[in-house]
Amino acid sequence: LRVYVSRDASALALGADATARAIEAVARERGIAIDLVRTGSRGMFWLEPLVEVEVATNGASTRIGYGPVAARDVAGLFDAGFTRAGAHPARVGPVESLDWLARQDRLCFARVGVTDPLGIADYVAHGGFRGLRNALAMAPADIVKVVIDSGLRGRGGAAFPTGLKWKTVLDAPVTQPAAGPQPSKYVVCNADEGDSGTFSDRMLMEGDPLCLVEGMTIAGIAVGATQGYIYLRSEYPHARRALDAAIANAYAAGWLGADIRGSGRRFDLEVRIGAGAYICGEETSLLDSLEGKRGQVRFKPPLPAIKGLFGRPTVVNNVISLASVPLILERGAAYYRDYGVGRSRGTLPIQLAGNLKRTGLVEKAFGVTLRELLYDWGGGSYSGRPIRAVQVGGPLGAYLPESQFDTPLDYEAFASIGAMLGHGGIVAFDDSVDMAEQARHAMEFCAVESCGKCTPCRIGSTRGVEVLDRLRAGIDRERQLALLEDLCTTMRHASLCALGGLTPDPVTSALKHFREDFGISTPRE
Ligand code: NAI
Ligand code: SF4
Repeated sequence: LRVYVSRDASALALGADATARAIEAVARERGIAIDLVRTGSRGMFWLEPLVEVEVATNGASTRIGYGPVAARDVAGLFDAGFTRAGAHPARVGPVESLDWLARQDRLCFARVGVTDPLGIADYVAHGGFRGLRNALAMAPADIVKVVIDSGLRGRGGAAFPTGLKWKTVLDAPVTQPAAGPQPSKYVVCNADEGDSGTFSDRMLMEGDPLCLVEGMTIAGIAVGATQGYIYLRSEYPHARRALDAAIANAYAAGWLGADIRGSGRRFDLEVRIGAGAYICGEETSLLDSLEGKRGQVRFKPPLPAIKGLFGRPTVVNNVISLASVPLILERGAAYYRDYGVGRSRGTLPIQLAGNLKRTGLVEKAFGVTLRELLYDWGGGSYSGRPIRAVQVGGPLGAYLPESQFDTPLDYEAFASIGAMLGHGGIVAFDDSVDMAEQARHAMEFCAVESCGKCTPCRIGSTRGVEVLDRLRAGIDRERQLALLEDLCTTMRHASLCALGGLTPDPVTSALKHFREDFGISTPRE
């Protein structure tokens, strides 16, 4: 009898460990033999801790869910005969038929919440390593072509075509003599997920770390890199444990190392831990940090694809970009490209956060609208009040008013309204939000996290906080508004990287759509 409980950090925060321990204790007391499997999370946070029991119906196995189940509810669950899928107030029915899951397009997250994250056998039984197996039989340029043809774009936020980045690295000459044991090219996974309201990287690394290992190995083979690093934020200790164990298991099974499954190809992989700076999610700061220096933004060019880690051509990709690759190599470019709209192909793992009834992870093909996500999946606001604004794409994303909720999730559609999809995080606010305070928060965030290398960001963000404070206090409004506009223009165009360059977006969008919160009664022209 198999029972599943998540060990994802979000489920743990809601008491999943205590629930799991109670299930084992009650089963022991009552002499019921169970096999308790700890999985990733299905992403339905309002149901966590979610307990699933596997039952056989018409020769097939189905998982029946109960949630949320606190440790104190466990004895009652057994009383209700949950091991035979008995009735109970927390019973939600067959998990995969739940509307929330059934209407998603789970490609990247297909195994998350389903399998034992660390078990190689479970991974292989659910399609794992098929993509890498195919890649091992292909020439590097052919692997790159498949990724280009799939239309996959960087899921960290900038949406640069992943395959083109790989091609740049594949074609890059190794400019320094490849003396000694140092690898000539690198693959670096940016796992410094720092945007507010985002957690898809974390969920993937905790719930299906082998998928990332497989994606990075494919990238290495494709571009001729023999060493990979996962740069993981220190705030993700559960992901660290999962990755370390998954990497050790992959080595033991011959999927990493000197001669991958007898192919003669080599790829080594290690986890490196960041030290808590938001700016180290910017790729060049990340590389400096990885090299043991203070994380500070480098001038580009040269691009990391030409001169990256230790001066070598380097692929720097986000977790979800790399974890999308195994399926593309398994099923082919067309399979992936068939999902999505316009130039936004495939799926996006969307993270619903903030003031919503049902927060969590929704993986859906591009084209789904914000309104569908907020109401069909999110269930409207948690407080029951009207949703007034959403911020998409992290702390530097624009604030969108209700009139823009029908925008489809598509990189170009978002750009056309002055917004960005970023890493797919959506944070909802009800009508009690003070948008002037939110605008101030953006400037303050930039002031705290600035790496200090360029003036518009280092000085501008601090001046921005001061101007917004005077504006909110009603001191000389017209002058403060003119100053703020001037400052935002300077930051946008003269900052060295996206932190300073994007900070004006939440500020100017709040000013544009929520003028009354700044004490301005006239509508903007
Ligand atoms: P970018 O547009 O400068 O570069 C995107 C990527 O494409 C980089 O890896 C760059 O090296 C590469 N690239 C560009 N031209 C290339 C070429 N010709 N050949 C090969 N590679 C090429 O954007 P940037 O500054 O790297 O990222 C900014 C984005 O980061 C923002 O739009 C934001 O959405 C996102 N972001 C994500 C966060 C997160 O936690 N995931 C946090 C903060 C920002
Ligand atoms: Fe550093 Fe800010 Fe300049 Fe980026 S914009 S390089 S974070 S000072």
